[in-house]
Order: sequence, then structure tokens, then C-alpha cells
Amino acid sequence: MSAANDRMNAAAVPQGDAGPGWGVGPELRQVLAALGAGLSREGGEPDLQGIFERELQRALAVRTVRLREIPPRYQARLVTPTRTPDSIVLGVPSSDPRVQAVLEASTGPDRCLDDRDQALLSAAAELGGLVLEAARSRPRIRATVQPTASLVGSTPVMQALRERVERVAVTDFTVLVEGESGTGKELVARQLHDISRRRNGPFVAVNCAAVVETLLEAELFGIEERTATGVRGRRGKFEHADGGTLFLDEVSDLSLSAQAKLLRAIQDLAVERVGGVGSKRVNTRIVVATNRPLSEMVARAQFRADLYYRLSGVEIHVAPLRQRREDIPELARYFLNRHRGTRQLTLSVAAEDALRLYAWPGNVRELERLMERAVALTGCDRVELDDLPPHVRGDYGTVIGPALATGDSMRAWGSRYARLVFERCGGNKRQACRVLDISYHTLQAYLRYADRSLSKSPTPLPAWAAPGQANGEESGGPP
Ligand SMILES: Nc1ncnc2c1ncn2[C@@H]1O[C@H](COP(=O)(O)OP(=O)(O)O)[C@@H](O)[C@H]1O
Ligand SMILES: [Mg+2]
Repeated sequence: MSAANDRMNAAAVPQGDAGPGWGVGPELRQVLAALGAGLSREGGEPDLQGIFERELQRALAVRTVRLREIPPRYQARLVTPTRTPDSIVLGVPSSDPRVQAVLEASTGPDRCLDDRDQALLSAAAELGGLVLEAARSRPRIRATVQPTASLVGSTPVMQALRERVERVAVTDFTVLVEGESGTGKELVARQLHDISRRRNGPFVAVNCAAVVETLLEAELFGIEERTATGVRGRRGKFEHADGGTLFLDEVSDLSLSAQAKLLRAIQDLAVERVGGVGSKRVNTRIVVATNRPLSEMVARAQFRADLYYRLSGVEIHVAPLRQRREDIPELARYFLNRHRGTRQLTLSVAAEDALRLYAWPGNVRELERLMERAVALTGCDRVELDDLPPHVRGDYGTVIGPALATGDSMRAWGSRYARLVFERCGGNKRQACRVLDISYHTLQAYLRYADRSLSKSPTPLPAWAAPGQANGEESGGPP
């Protein structure tokens, strides 16, 4: 019996099911049965949201059904429920007040939505709340079950990033990932795909900066057979990504004309091959990345404003490594560990400290390469300060290196440092005490010690230590 017949029977014979006087039983039972079957199926995680949408659409004989979360920035504008003759939007209950979700349904021109449809969909919206709840908690469960989650880092910045990725992954919105080169933008895009309901579909990455302008259109949208002599027809990346995620890296490098084409493709979610007639619909989630702030490029007329607004609805910012320094040792160990099959290396305290102080202009990618270098070159099974390249040792090497070489005592070090701070404070002892966090008496002792050993200084001092510094020598002095 067709779904439409079911509906008529249900309407004719109210069965006391949920809904004010309407028999909403058979349709919802059908949806529930499909969800149950999905849950009990072996292997992989069920796409409950997809099952829910498909079954409800079939049961109600409508054209489309969508169940989705609304990103916070759009929530204020949303008024639910809304009903027109051929569409309806209903609020979906959520246990988290920050999350707003809706159930949308629309019909073709040949069918109008009536009160019974609304009653059915209202009941379905309650069920939808449960489905979304399950979808939201799944990535979290995955993250705890699989400690190999590849976005490494424990700083609040990284925790917030992971949370954002998980939240955004359950939606189908276009995502803009911004951040300096090497911060992990592509990794974020892959994570978005891996924990989304598209994870069994393809993840297709295109580096827009690496494709020659004249070939870009064919690369993205495909080309029809024999468009030019000898040209073989092929699918573009949009089509390759059908059912999955399309990652467009370095979108800021697209020419203005390529931007126009991309805008059209994103808006219509349909692509037209070069030399083709008519367009083909594609079902792909688009994630774009840029290492140049697009808003600034829009201001300079280097990036189309309309495309920018289309892309920037949901943004994810990946912070540079120097703004999350506490993650550096964890990442360094993570990269060393990846090669534990080859060698088991640890980091010395000094090397770790130097890594933490370095500025990392190449971000995580630079750290990853450096750890690979260490695996290849380090002599013993611990990475020492001297195993790091000079530019990474940097100030750390300049400051600590000479002291290490001469075997400075703590006292010699302390007095040298105290003398320097004292001079930087313009000879103001009280201020120097505050900066050094020591007592007046201790400062006096340090300064006496420094002055005494001043005349005997045989070792060249690093540049930062202004003239008048002492090298280490033990002979009575500060504590
Ligand atoms: N948080 C992270 N945890 C583990 N590996 C990371 C992390 N961030 C970046 N990486 C690694 O660093 C390298 C550069 O990351 P990538 O995503 O290509 O950067 P971007 O796209 O921003 O230039 C990749 O090998 C990636 O796996
Ligand atoms: Mg990249």
C-alpha cells in the first residue's frame, strides 16, 4: 500500500495516537522502525539523521524533509513555526538551550500541506530532537573511544577548536577555515569530514593556488568530451566529491573570474562542465581554507564580497602555534612518537624549553619537520639542545650556551642576571627586587658578588649581557 493510502486510512480511522484528534500512528511508526533498524545494524555508525529525513519524506509523500541545527548567529532571525501552503518550519526541542534546531518540510506544487501534516510533523519534530541529540553525542563518544584524535593539543584554545569542529561537523553548512600556514587547517577540514555523516563518502582536496588559472574551471567542474581537439571528457572535483566533502584550500588565490564561477556552483550546488550543456546537481559539503584574512581582501577589492559572505557563515579560526605555546611539548612528543617504530626518542628539558620559546613562523608543520629531522640526525636517544638547529635554539642558546660551556654555578648565573636587571631598572634597587622577586638583602649580595668577579671575567659574554657582567666564579657571595 502506498504511503499516501496509509495517510488516508489513518485520517479516516483515528486511532487515538499522538496528535489532537489525528491518527499520526502509521507514519511515525514507520520512521521509528527505520531508526530502530538503523541502530541495530552491525558495523559503522548509523546515519540516524539521514534515515529520519528519508523515512519521514517517504511517509508523508512530501518533496523534502530536513532536520538541522541552526548556527548561533542565525538564531535571532528565525521565527518558528512558519507554515505556507507548500512549506513548513517547526522548532525541534533541545536539551541544550544554546542549540536551536528546526524541522523543515516542503512539497511540490501539486500538494498542499494541511493541518494533519502539521500535526504529524509536530510529533516528528519531538522525535527529531532525540535524533539530533544522538548525532551530537556520537562525535564525543568517538573522540573518547579513539584517543588517536589527530588534533593534538590540550590548551583551552585547542579544546575550543575541537568542540567547534564537532559542533559544525553535524551540519551541512559551508565552512571557512582561517589561519596561518601550517596551523592545521587541512587537518581541521579532514576532521570535519571524518566525524560528519558524510564520512563514508569521499574527501576531495583541491589546492586552488596550485592549479593553473586556465585549467581551474575544468579541474573543479569537469570538461565535456571533445570540447577541443583531443580533449578527453572528465569529471571535475565537485562531482568527485559527490556524497562527501570538497575541501578548497587557499581560496584567496582564486582569480576574480574563478571566484564568480565558484559562487555560482556553491549557490546552486550544481555544476556545469566546460563545454557542457545543462548543469548537474551535486551533493557535497564545501569547506574552504585561507591563510589570508578574506575580510581584508574584500576591503581591498581582491576578493568578491558576495562570495565572501557566502563562505563566511560558519568560520573556524586556527590559532598560530606561538599563541598556544603550552601545546608545543605535547605536539613535539606526538611527532617523535610517530616514529617510535624507527627510534624511541625523548626530549631533554633544555630542548623542550627552547622549543617552547621559539616563534614557529611555520607553525605545526615546522615543528613536525623539525622532529623528523631529530629522528634522522640525533646521535643518542635523547634530543638535546645542541641537536636543534641554531635558529631554533636562538636566544636560548645564546643565553644559556656560554654558561653551560663554562659550567657556571647557580650563584654566578643569578648574580649576572641580577646585575643586568638592576641596570635595566635604571639602578633602582627596589624596582629590581620586585622584578626579580627577591629581598633587598639578597639583591645586595648578588650585586656584590657580580662586582667582585667583574674584573676576572675571562669568557666572552653574550651580546645581551651589557659590559660589566661577570662570569661564574665561586668565592663567597650571595645565597
Ligand atoms: N593539532 C595538530 N595535531 C597534530 N598534527 C597537526 C596539528 N596541526 C597540524 N598538524 C600537522 O601539521 C601539518 C600541517 O597541517 P595542515 O593541516 O596541512 O596545515 P595548513 O593547512 O594550515 O597549512 C600536517 O602534517 C598536520 O597533520
Ligand atoms: Mg594547507
